[in-house]
Amino acid sequence: MALKTTPAAPASAAATSPRLSVKAEQFTESVIREMTRLAIQHNAVNLSQGFPDFPAPAEIKNAAKVAIDADINQYAITWGAKKFRDAIAANFLRTQGVSVDPEREITVCCGSTEAMLSSMLAIINPGDEVVVFEPFYENYGPDAILSGASPRFVKLRPPDWTFDPDELAAAFGPKTKAIILNTPNNPTGKVFERAELELIRDLCVKWNVFGITDEIYEHMLYDGARHISLATIDGMRDRAITINALSKTYSVTGWRVGWAIAAPEVTGAIRKVHDFVTVGAAAPLQEAGAVALQVPNSYYETLARDYLVRRDRLLGILTAAGFRCFKPRGAYYIMTDISAFGFPDDVAFAKYLVKEIGVAAVPGSSFYQNSADGRAHVRFTFCKKESTLQAAAERLAKLHAK
Ligand SMILES: Cc1ncc(COP(=O)(O)O)c(C=O)c1O
Repeated sequence: MALKTTPAAPASAAATSPRLSVKAEQFTESVIREMTRLAIQHNAVNLSQGFPDFPAPAEIKNAAKVAIDADINQYAITWGAKKFRDAIAANFLRTQGVSVDPEREITVCCGSTEAMLSSMLAIINPGDEVVVFEPFYENYGPDAILSGASPRFVKLRPPDWTFDPDELAAAFGPKTKAIILNTPNNPTGKVFERAELELIRDLCVKWNVFGITDEIYEHMLYDGARHISLATIDGMRDRAITINALSKTYSVTGWRVGWAIAAPEVTGAIRKVHDFVTVGAAAPLQEAGAVALQVPNSYYETLARDYLVRRDRLLGILTAAGFRCFKPRGAYYIMTDISAFGFPDDVAFAKYLVKEIGVAAVPGSSFYQNSADGRAHVRFTFCKKESTLQAAAERLAKLHAK
């Protein structure tokens, strides 16, 4: 995604009324998804979009087949099948120690993508501001525009992607409605520490602000990093809107099943928005989701261990090819610095990489409001099987740092 620098002017008279939505005019299509299309077109190894190219767990796939055979083929309850909501609540209690009421505090959505947008549409009013850490997962920009929020960006700075507490405090004010957090973070791999979350909490309490927290990479953690859910921080239980999904943890990004956990009043609003946007997520896949969420902790431990091997493999490949890598502590991406290659910017480099070298990656500018801030960066994903990483290694060996 790129936010367009010159938004279309609002209609001043019927004769000049824009034919298309002024909101939709303010952002481009997703750069990440475009890179996947370019990868297919150029037969490139796709290290751009974050979807695994290895199989999902057999047990979970079987549960989906069983559900279809059992004719769980009609609409589920709009805010989620009871069995699935119960499993989400039990899983949140088991993994994070937070007790939530599945009857009043959970909305099952079509992926965390819809959970985030429905949550924002449920709480934002004209004039509201949302604080967003930058670089940010590209969807948050259009989410802000579509919901009518004005984003206030706060920089995460390499190499450790820390933020300046004063800069964060200055982004909050009487118009702030929410802060959007993503931990473990895409694209940086940052895992927010307790002290940072407490600082965020202090500001949320001071300004009476929601914390919308995208925790979709909660189980992908390296080097001793620990995921702390924002809802577990004292004072955040009822301010947090926790977004999560089956997509990444169970390698089923195409299933489109996610959820939002929030206090009852907020959930009431999210459920209404969700109902009229999508009616509901796929019923048989919610049944399978209930099975997925009951896997033993050893599943998550193995997942993190396997991803650690892939992370280190891709770090080695990229470093050998001349990239400066920012080592991620979570999620499944590596942000790199491409200065050594002497290209004018990230987009020119990513296009060269996909067309001439045969590897697709995401230009860093798609994670920044101001594209110049991301011009020295390109993001790679390592949620790929060894043969894919090996193919990328062979192709990247043709690259020459200057
Ligand atoms: C931070 C983050 N949130 C949400 C999503 C999308 O999740 P879903 O497939 O559940 O809609 C992604 C996908 O890459 C992501 O990186």
